[in-house]
Amino acid sequence: MKDGDNLVTELAQKLSGKVVISSEITDSDIKGIGTEIISRKALEFFGKSQGLKVIDRETLKKIIGKPAPEEEQEKSPKVEVTGSISKKDTAKDVRADFTIKNAAIEKTPAGVEDFSAYFKNRFDKLRLLIERGRSAGGVSITNKIENLKVYANGRDIGVIGMVYEKTVTKNGHVMFSIEDETGTGKVLLIKAERTSRKEKHELFDFASKIVNDEVIAIKGRISSPFLIADGVIWPDIPIRQIKKTEDDIAIAFASDIHIGSKLFLDKQFEKFIEWLNGKIDVRKDIAEKIKYFVISGDLVDGIGVYPNQDKELSINDIYKQYDALFRYLNQIPEHIEVFVLGGNHDALQRAEPQPPLGDDLIKKDFKKDNIHLVSNPGYVKMHGINTLAYHGTSLDSVIQAIPGCSYSKPESAMIEVLKKRHVSPIYGDNPIMPSKKDSLVMDEVPDILHMGHLHKNGYADYHGTQVINSGTWQARTSYQVKLGHMPTPAILPIYHAKSGALWSMDFNSLA
Ligand SMILES: [Fe+2]
Repeated sequence: MKDGDNLVTELAQKLSGKVVISSEITDSDIKGIGTEIISRKALEFFGKSQGLKVIDRETLKKIIGKPAPEEEQEKSPKVEVTGSISKKDTAKDVRADFTIKNAAIEKTPAGVEDFSAYFKNRFDKLRLLIERGRSAGGVSITNKIENLKVYANGRDIGVIGMVYEKTVTKNGHVMFSIEDETGTGKVLLIKAERTSRKEKHELFDFASKIVNDEVIAIKGRISSPFLIADGVIWPDIPIRQIKKTEDDIAIAFASDIHIGSKLFLDKQFEKFIEWLNGKIDVRKDIAEKIKYFVISGDLVDGIGVYPNQDKELSINDIYKQYDALFRYLNQIPEHIEVFVLGGNHDALQRAEPQPPLGDDLIKKDFKKDNIHLVSNPGYVKMHGINTLAYHGTSLDSVIQAIPGCSYSKPESAMIEVLKKRHVSPIYGDNPIMPSKKDSLVMDEVPDILHMGHLHKNGYADYHGTQVINSGTWQARTSYQVKLGHMPTPAILPIYHAKSGALWSMDFNSLA
């Protein structure tokens, strides 16, 4: 790999260390095939084979065989709308078919015992996901951490543990502790030297993505008092096909509407509602396909969420903010099922998981059968498409902790969250309600992962999961100006479930 080999880097990220790419492979070897296809085929090719899995030119030929058929060529998500759509069916003619799975909300006193029970459950759930997920290249990963102190130096071992105290030593090596119910151990990831093998560099790059409080498997060799790591395995999600539907329907996504803020883009939002009602002569064919609409939090701006917020509010009363929201939602055609969850600005307990909005926030007249209140996070299965909706408050800490993740690319942090199978992997800034069961673990593999919070649209296809960040309906705030963040307001992502295509509608020009 040479500097600037972007496709090779992308492929390496998709292989997550499970297969190593030889340094002889450059972008020109894989150009035009699609990294998603190569990674999927490579994982199939190596299957459960043991030993080092390396893609060199010879193996690459075997993996990709003849060129992939056209329909299999990788499609990057389309963010613009092209072509005409079958008018045969409209969402009105299709019967709604959905289920909601709310997070178990259990209030505890949040004492030391509650937290230790919570983290034990988090560990048990994630360990199971790792164990079920894959073999660890011939080394058993079911060893107990206490054995690190029992076995002799030089022995290969694989363990699963929760990470804590991650530091970078002054020589640039990564060091952290891991813990299971039998004990703790110290893991060292040696910084790759310029002269060392590419695999070593890659392993070290992966190490930079390890964060405190997450659960991972480490393979390595004992060198007392350390386990010198030569492999890292995340719980991750399996590679699947993108989920589609027989019916010609679409799902729209929004978040961070911030009603009550002076910067809420009411004109754009009103145009969107008019468009859903078929009153605007732009891409009516798409509006007619929308059967479901998911809104993932920051429905309103809230009151007292940050210092001096009152100066930036157009509605100073929390009940009136929700009145304004539900006045809009009531105008959505009744054949569209609307799923509404809260975020860090909403009038809910701040600790996650957050329950659905309280009944007292919605006036009697505004309660309608097609409006459904969901927990944050929550699973909504629509026409068989399992969507994990989560506001995304944890993304701030993920972006801060992981090099390569940024506010300009929300999908980068969302993919890390998928790999870690936990919507809020780092304990600290984002408060958690320590229930006996950790509902923030991704027990199910979502077909769509929908978040907001970053006020920036972002899309990716990761292992067959559609990753969607739906941006915002609020203009750039002074806080965002200070931080240099550029939001992308009033752009609505739409998943066309029949074709698996992702579209977006920009309402700025219509306002
Ligand atoms: Fe927001």
